[in-house]
Amino acid sequence: MSQALAAVPAERRRALRPYSPASSAKGRPFLEQLEAPQALLDLASNDYLGLSRHPAVLAAAAAELAASGLGAGASRLVSGTRPVHLALEAALAAWLDRERVLLFPSGFQANLAAVSALADRHSLVLADRLIHHSLLAGVRTSGARLRRFAHNNLADLEHQLVTARRDRPHGRLLVLCESLYSMEGTSPPLAELAALCARHNAPLLVDEAHALGVLGPGGRGLAYGLREVALVCGTFGKAFGGGGAFLAVDEPLGEWLLQSSGAFRYTPALAPPLAAGALAALELLKGEPQAGVALCQRAARWREALAAAGWPHPAGEGPILPLLVGDDGKALALQQRLEAAGLLTVAIRPPTVPEGTARLRLVLRADLPIGSRDRLLAALGDAEEGRRQ
Ligand SMILES: Cc1ncc(COP(=O)(O)O)c(C=O)c1O
Repeated sequence: MSQALAAVPAERRRALRPYSPASSAKGRPFLEQLEAPQALLDLASNDYLGLSRHPAVLAAAAAELAASGLGAGASRLVSGTRPVHLALEAALAAWLDRERVLLFPSGFQANLAAVSALADRHSLVLADRLIHHSLLAGVRTSGARLRRFAHNNLADLEHQLVTARRDRPHGRLLVLCESLYSMEGTSPPLAELAALCARHNAPLLVDEAHALGVLGPGGRGLAYGLREVALVCGTFGKAFGGGGAFLAVDEPLGEWLLQSSGAFRYTPALAPPLAAGALAALELLKGEPQAGVALCQRAARWREALAAAGWPHPAGEGPILPLLVGDDGKALALQQRLEAAGLLTVAIRPPTVPEGTARLRLVLRADLPIGSRDRLLAALGDAEEGRRQ
């Protein structure tokens, strides 16, 4: 282990840095570092709608904390199920128009459970090349064979589906994709992708971790209304502003997960205050169905402005705007330059993204103050110079 650790180059090493929500009355999207001179405008977190400190979310979590305590103290199947869990599952199922929803303590666990429920060692899993690590961990746990298709490339997926069906006409297949890729900002043409999978009798799992609350009708995600999608994974750690996750499925698959999934059974229930916070966040989303649209429109204006300033036009339509730099050192230098100007962004480097594609991940949130875009453009400075440095 120490040899492997020594082989990690200095510019690839990560360190933990603590941030606290700014104590000043300046507004919500600011984070402070101990003994640092200034609060940083948060262009890094996934709290897209600023719900993590919304008064209604906090009040619901606090009330549940007082009523139920911090943790449920047991697995859902032992004594850990609280009324708030059932209420949240029912509300999500109705909102997403799915038969059954099951909660999990994290999206990582939910994805492990999801892949393991739909694939086994006899299966072939076809996954987008840029799929989240938790889904890959699920494939490994299931024992299935894995093949990757080019990112959002339906022609490549079709080719692999045809080949798989030719080789094993009745073999078990599973396709994995996300609806908003967190390091790319891109989305697949999901309706076409789902139809393609259905034509080849391959169940489709869609991870909506970053899309939920932001993309699709009323923030319901891009899989909303697509009956061909067998399983939707959603998380509360992004736009919902909390933590925890869920799987939305049909009744038989829900029952199968309940009866068989180790990731569901052998872990404490989602902390009741987090469940109550998620329920409150869901109510807010229902009351403001245009919140995601407004954020995406703002993101479109940021994309145009960055391109006009000479940066590569960030792909996609959602609130994640990756600024491609290429070289690890340059991405880190840019992060530091922005930090010196009071802006918190994170340089994303391999192995999180492919070699040679280091980038600055800019994340928009609904509560950014007016003028944030100009501040960013000023701090980024000359695009040519930024990429040369
Ligand atoms: C695409 C995607 N799926 C799943 C997860 C895991 O979700 P959670 O943070 O709830 O464990 C993440 C979190 O980073 C993610 O980005």
